[in-house]
Amino acid sequence: MMGSRIILPLGMTLVFAAAAFAELPPGTGREETIRTCSRCHSPEIVATAHQTRDQWQVTISKMANLGAEANDNEFEAILDYLASHFGPAAAQPININKATAVEIECVLEITRSESKKIVAYREQHGAFKSIDDLSQVPGLDFKKVSEKKSLLLF
Ligand code: HEC
Repeated sequence: MMGSRIILPLGMTLVFAAAAFAELPPGTGREETIRTCSRCHSPEIVATAHQTRDQWQVTISKMANLGAEANDNEFEAILDYLASHFGPAAAQPININKATAVEIECVLEITRSESKKIVAYREQHGAFKSIDDLSQVPGLDFKKVSEKKSLLLF
């Protein structure tokens, strides 16, 4: 009788683990990632992050400092896997005259206070007609914004 009490919780643990691993898409480096990155937390934590390769490198170094153990080849495989499957979410173009401050912030990669300035300017002066109109917004890094002009619809 005691035996079945012990076996049941073990079986449940395996079911939960399998569900967590299902979040990680197949690909080279997946096994290394699961082996190395599931020791302290669920490996699916990586599926919630969307980072550039450089940012993943920083995260992996941070995990290594915290105690993640793998050899150089394994860390390289993990980096390749994460960079190719969990890169930055592809930004969809937005209508700068309709988008919310949060949408503008994400697409243009600017701060919340900057995106609020765009919205405030729009509310005061009416619709932006071209990228040049954004140079009028006080306190906005126009150079940075104009680099992303292909993501803006007017
Ligand atoms: C030795 C334990 C340990 C291992 C192994 C480990 N992590 Fe972590 N991880 C942590 C801790 C602790 C945190 C929370 C850190 C914090 O809040 O600053 C964390 C948080 C994270 C986060 C959340 C964002 C962040 O930067 O805090 C990500 C993503 C992550 N880990 C990815 C990984 C990856 C990828 C691996 C495998 C290379 C890995 N972890 C292996 C301990 C570990």
